[in-house]
Amino acid sequence: MRTPRTIRVTAGGPILVEGPVRIELPDGRVLESDRFVTALCVCRRSAIYPLCDTSHRSRRRAGSADPAS
Ligand code: FES
Repeated sequence: MRTPRTIRVTAGGPILVEGPVRIELPDGRVLESDRFVTALCVCRRSAIYPLCDTSHRSRRRAGSADPAS
């Protein structure tokens, strides 16, 4: 019996998938990662989408003009 892969959904951040992983995109591209954990972007702000580049951390809070708050 295979051990289930752990996929962790974080609050306001990426989905963390235990690697290695093969990611198939709608446009036909395929990305492979042999990292121990791969972070998948869910905010769509990442410059390296579908991988997370931590851009989600600079997301503004509703009603705030300061991106750091
Ligand atoms: S979830 Fe991290 S950059 Fe989108």
